[in-house]
Amino acid sequence: MATHERIETALAVALKRATKKPSPPKLSQALRHAVLDGGARVRPQLCLAVAHACGDRDESELVSATAAAIELIHCASLVHDDLPCFDNADLRRGKSSVHAAYGEPLAVLAGDALIVAAFETLAMCSAGNPIRANSLLVDLAFATGAPNGICAGQGWESESEIDLSAYHRAKTGALFVAATRMGARAMGENPEPWETLGAKIGEAFQVADDLRDALLDTEELGKPAGQDAVHDRPNAVAHLGVQGAVKKLDTILEGAVESIPPCEGEATLQAIVRHQAERLVPVGVARYVA
Ligand code: IPE
Ligand code: IPE
Ligand code: MG
Ligand code: MG
Repeated sequence: MATHERIETALAVALKRATKKPSPPKLSQALRHAVLDGGARVRPQLCLAVAHACGDRDESELVSATAAAIELIHCASLVHDDLPCFDNADLRRGKSSVHAAYGEPLAVLAGDALIVAAFETLAMCSAGNPIRANSLLVDLAFATGAPNGICAGQGWESESEIDLSAYHRAKTGALFVAATRMGARAMGENPEPWETLGAKIGEAFQVADDLRDALLDTEELGKPAGQDAVHDRPNAVAHLGVQGAVKKLDTILEGAVESIPPCEGEATLQAIVRHQAERLVPVGVARYVA
């Protein structure tokens, strides 16, 4: 099965479970709206690439569930992030954000239900290897909550002084670290050597997101542009300028490729990271750096 299809199939299983009767119909629609159509699926792809590098050849169910669980947490974080009490964004993935389409109460609940669905997705696959599944649940919790995960990352925005690297590490980096660690762990490999790759890709992704936010327009982005400036958020472009941020992106990505541990699929994974890097660099950057 192609990687894309594998991810969508695993997500569909989780969504089916969360939206079956007697779920209230509008909540079910909000859940589907939050997960389906438009996401780049970068995190589950990274997770599957690491699992493949660690020998996943027969499409293990636990690996598929792991990739889906990571994407479900990401989708939940976007639903909550767009709420009026956070970024107040009406557009996400080129369509209405969940609260704009279904109202705030259902958006809060949809985000909550997706977080639960992520953990449930992993727990439902634990029978074959309970010890491995338990460790995966711990990794996912680390990346989702406090003090190191997405909740902590978003929490930094309520502080008067923000520790920029702790903010980015928790808000964005933690789930990328989870993607690489959990890809290895789902294959029964030691996750530690994979930590740096996730951290570097997460760091690069945040710099690229800051560049896109500053340089592209709302239509190109499929979400509101210029938000870092509107909300006065610390960001790589304000810190380093466009050229400085592009240079930083290159340096981080080279470090990411170098950090890939020796493994059977090392060359393929290096190629995937380089290919993703090309996609990360905002299309509009050339206009500004030339
Ligand atoms: C956006 O992530 C949020 C950040 C962490 C910067 P993505 O750019 O991966 O969003 P989707 O999933 O493709 O919509
Ligand atoms: C997205 O963060 C949500 C999380 C990573 C939790 P941002 O607010 O920085 O990203 P966009 O621009 O809305 O996607
Ligand atoms: Mg935000
Ligand atoms: Mg936002």
